[in-house]
Amino acid sequence: MSSAIINGKEIGQEIRKSVAQRVKKLKEQGLTPGLAVILVGENPASKTYVANKQKSCEAIGMFSELIKLPEDISEQTLLDRIRELNTRKDIHGILVQLPLPKHIDEDEVIATISDEKDVDGFSPVSVGKMMLGQETYLPCTPFGVMKLLEHSNIDVAGKHAVIVGRSHIVGKPMGQLLLQKDATVTYTHSKTPDLPSFTKQADILIVAVGRAKYITAEHVKPGAVVIDVGMNRDENNKLCGDVDFANVDGVASHITPVPGGVGPMTITMLLENTVQAAEKTIAHDKIN
Ligand code: GUN
Repeated sequence: MSSAIINGKEIGQEIRKSVAQRVKKLKEQGLTPGLAVILVGENPASKTYVANKQKSCEAIGMFSELIKLPEDISEQTLLDRIRELNTRKDIHGILVQLPLPKHIDEDEVIATISDEKDVDGFSPVSVGKMMLGQETYLPCTPFGVMKLLEHSNIDVAGKHAVIVGRSHIVGKPMGQLLLQKDATVTYTHSKTPDLPSFTKQADILIVAVGRAKYITAEHVKPGAVVIDVGMNRDENNKLCGDVDFANVDGVASHITPVPGGVGPMTITMLLENTVQAAEKTIAHDKIN
């Protein structure tokens, strides 16, 4: 029997509909949620991601501003642009598309985004709050994975979740969010010996390694839920994930496809975070 497909496109659409309703309400009160996206240089993948983010904002009635900066921009000029956006009333969320050119200190750039506008949830303050379980903006991809699990009625409490990958953007925060929902969490990564001996224990296997079709049936316990965060090109230049879908299909109980699994959820949660940031300014103005 085939594995059940977790359809991120459908679940994302459903969430976007309710976010669009909230945008409509805010606009009736005279406030249009606004997202500023900073793109430095000409990285083709980054250009595509940024274009998709803008299109999605506009599709639900939000304002989005793309700030395109040259590859050789100085760090100081970039920081000044962020500081200027921090003060703008029409901008509620700020996103700096990563990676940045090597001469720019990414940590410094992210830390300069004001906490109230850090809709990517990457700043040290946002990460610290997330670790403590305090209210903050959650990083969009792991937040989206939690929504996929929730909408698929997969309860993570008491389950063994194994994460493959330890990036700041996905792996590390993913484990924290699962831990907060009472999963038992194991982190694995490129230096883990005998990876299948770990992944085979997973009730929920989350893969974010960035290697095409790396995870096969030998890594998966029958009946496990498999979430594929990868986005790669295969030998025929076709989009594929970190999981060999055809090979794992039928072994897992549930699986996310690529494309159409985790991908659409990342932008959905960015919209959610930005609308939440705009809603907070109204709540804040009412108190003061
Ligand atoms: N580069 C790859 N993924 C992301 C993301 O989620 N946010 C930003 N800002 N850059 C990225």
